[in-house]
This record gives sequence, C-alpha cells and structure tokens, in this order.
Amino acid sequence: MQRDSIPISDPVSIEDLNHLAVRARGIIAELRKRMLLPNASKNPPTLSSEKVASLCGITKGQLNYRIKNGAPPGTVASRGGRREFTLEEAQAWTKIERSENMRPKGGKAVTIGIAFFKGGVTKTTTTMTLAQGLSLLGHRVLNIDMDPQGSLTTLHGLLPDSEIEDEDTLGPLFHGDQQDVRYAIRKTYWPGIDLIPAASAMFSAEFALPAQQMRDRNFEFWDVLNKGLEAVRDDYDVILIDTPPSLSYMTINAFFASDGMIIPMTASMLDMVSSAQFWSLFSDLAASISKRLPDPKKYDFINILLAKINNNDTTTRAVRDWISTVYGGKVMPVEIPMTAVSGSAASEFATVFDITKYEGDARTYKRAREAYESLALAVEESIRMVWAKREAK
Ligand SMILES: Nc1ncnc2c1ncn2[C@@H]1O[C@H](COP(=O)(O)OP(=O)(O)OP(=O)(O)O)[C@@H](O)[C@H]1O
Ligand SMILES: [Mg+2]
Repeated sequence: MQRDSIPISDPVSIEDLNHLAVRARGIIAELRKRMLLPNASKNPPTLSSEKVASLCGITKGQLNYRIKNGAPPGTVASRGGRREFTLEEAQAWTKIERSENMRPKGGKAVTIGIAFFKGGVTKTTTTMTLAQGLSLLGHRVLNIDMDPQGSLTTLHGLLPDSEIEDEDTLGPLFHGDQQDVRYAIRKTYWPGIDLIPAASAMFSAEFALPAQQMRDRNFEFWDVLNKGLEAVRDDYDVILIDTPPSLSYMTINAFFASDGMIIPMTASMLDMVSSAQFWSLFSDLAASISKRLPDPKKYDFINILLAKINNNDTTTRAVRDWISTVYGGKVMPVEIPMTAVSGSAASEFATVFDITKYEGDARTYKRAREAYESLALAVEESIRMVWAKREAK
C-alpha cells in the first residue's frame, strides 16, 4: 500500500521539550504582565460603604452614623469623595460588628482541606474565593498550595516556575530539613491572607516521603504537614489547603492535617462516578493508616459543594438529586453557578472578589459574588461549630 502521502515529522528530543517549556514560561509571564497592569503584581480591591455595611450585617445609614459618632481607630476610610474602604479598614469593621463569629480567645485555627481526585472541579477557585470571603468577614487565613502545579500560587499573582524556589515551598518540610511550616509562610497582596506557595520542585516530595518511610519504620509519612502546622495554629482563624487532583502523598498529608473537608463536585455523571471511587480509596487508605494511630482519624465535617452549576442543563437536576440521596445533609446549602465571571481568561489570575469593576453584565457579576459570599458564610458556620465543640470539651 502507498503511504507516502503521510508527512514524516522530525523526532522530538527531550531538549526540544525543554525549549517548549522555556517558550511557554515566557509567554505566560508576558500574559500575566498584561493582565496585571500596571506593575505585574496583584492589587487588593477597595470596598464601598454599601459593601462594608452589608458584610457587617448593618445598613449604610447605621455605618455612617457610627463613623460620625467616633468610629474605632483603624476603621475609617480616609480617601476623599465617595467613601472607599481598604481591606484592612473593612476587616476592622467586620471584626467589631461580627465579634460573635470570631475565633474564641485561646482557640486554634480550623484547618480545611479542599479535595477531590477529579481535575477541574474548582478546588483551587474554591480555596481562593473562600479565603477572600472569610477574610472579608474578619478572619485571618493561611492558604496552603499543595499542588505542584501551583495554581493557587498563581491566583495570588505569583508565577510558580519563575518566582518560587523549592525552599519557598513545603519541599524542605517533606524532605525533613524543616520541622514547622513557618519558614514558608509569606504575606500576599491581600492583607489578612498569608500563603505557603507551591512549585513544580515539590514533585520530589512525592519520592522523599516513601524513601524516609523505608529508612525509618517509625516515621509517619501522613502526619508531616499536620505536625508542621502545629506551630502556627494559634496565628490563624482558618487554614485552607488546596490539593492536587490525585491520590498523592501531598493529598494524604492534607487529609491528616485537616479538621474538615470541602469536596467540590460538578453536576456531571463522570464526577458522580469518580466520587464513589474517591471515597473507597480514601476510606481504605485512612483505615490502613488509622490502625497505627492511638485514636482513629475523625473529621468535624465533610461538606460537598456543588459547583459550576448550570440550571439550563437537563442532567443537572438528575445529578443533583442523586448527589443529595447519597450525601444527604453533607451537601452544602449553597451552590456555585457556572459563570462567565469565573470562567474568563482573566479569572485565571483573579476571582470574583478581586474584580471591582466587572466589564460584563452587572447581574451576572452580582449573582456570582453573592454565591461566593454565601459560601463563605456557610463555611464560617462549620468553623464556628468546630470552635464550639472544642470549647465544650
Ligand atoms: N463557577 C465557575 N464557573 C465557570 N468556570 C469556573 C467556575 N469556577 C472555576 N471555573 C474555571 O474552571 C476551571 C477549573 O477550576 P480550578 O482550577 O479551580 O479547578 P481545580 O479543581 O483546582 O483543577 P485541578 O484539578 O486542575 O487543580 C478554571 O479555568 C476556572 O477558572
Ligand atoms: Mg487546582
């Protein structure tokens, strides 16, 4: 048979692949510069007095009255004209007005893992918007990026491959060179949210943990992050861990460091199938590790979050029904709609809370923002439940 019409391509060497990586990195850096003009780093948003009043659960009139009658230090917007609050000012208000929702004195951070083996179910978007939403409600947050792909790091305006070194990530903790995570914590563009970033160098931790387990039978490969976090649990209200879409040593460490879990799922048949697999793998693994623990691992909550929901899609209702039959009360009362605000190219570098002026339809933006605000309030309830349980002990 004549096959000479098929073009023969040149072989691709590993060096060629490396050239591709360099070219891709260059383009991404360029793209980011254009999206984050003027200075290629992210800027925190400011908030109107309507927004601050609504976060505090009071009216704008009440807020203005309080300001006129001597607002507490650190809470007054200083810019002229239309009153705009910085994030710090807004947080100072929410901390005072929502004081009953804050961490009890002497209480420790509640750690939440955001996990699911399936890729693209919005784990990273959920982590970032939750951090921002909780921060606006007055809580101090530590975000931990456990995915070597570094998407959460990127959402903080940092490029994992060019701006983050291995020693800036959890790599040294997992290699046994550090005992607590403090060395890796950095401030971010968003006051009130700190970050432990990730970069592809973290892949090597996947080999370091089993190697250490082989050398030392008493080593607890699943508990390295949990132990490393102990030193900072007094410094935060909430610790959020974004995990990779796989059952990796990183994910296992996130599971064992967490008090509660949020599992984002889309209303798709494939996610439903994956979820059954997820729970059986997870429970087998947790059971085998728990055998070595004096107390078996227990979670304060497991919340299923339906995300990227499109109510015009005919399968949505069927899948939603199935999910609530299986997960019952674990399904969160809030759903995140499929929205252009989260799905645009710019949103790879920003979330709904970063945008102060949305270019598209104002109703689309309002709907998306309200969904994420309700998510933060619902998760805050789970967090408060954990604090209350701990205090009752
Ligand atoms: N509510 C939404 N509506 C539409 N698109 C969304 C929404 N939330 C997130 N996205 C987009 O979906 C894609 C996947 O989201 P994200 O990266 O958060 O998922 P992930 O579960 O962390 O993925 P991975 O498994 O690769 O880590 C991204 O392009 C994101 O911008
Ligand atoms: Mg992700």
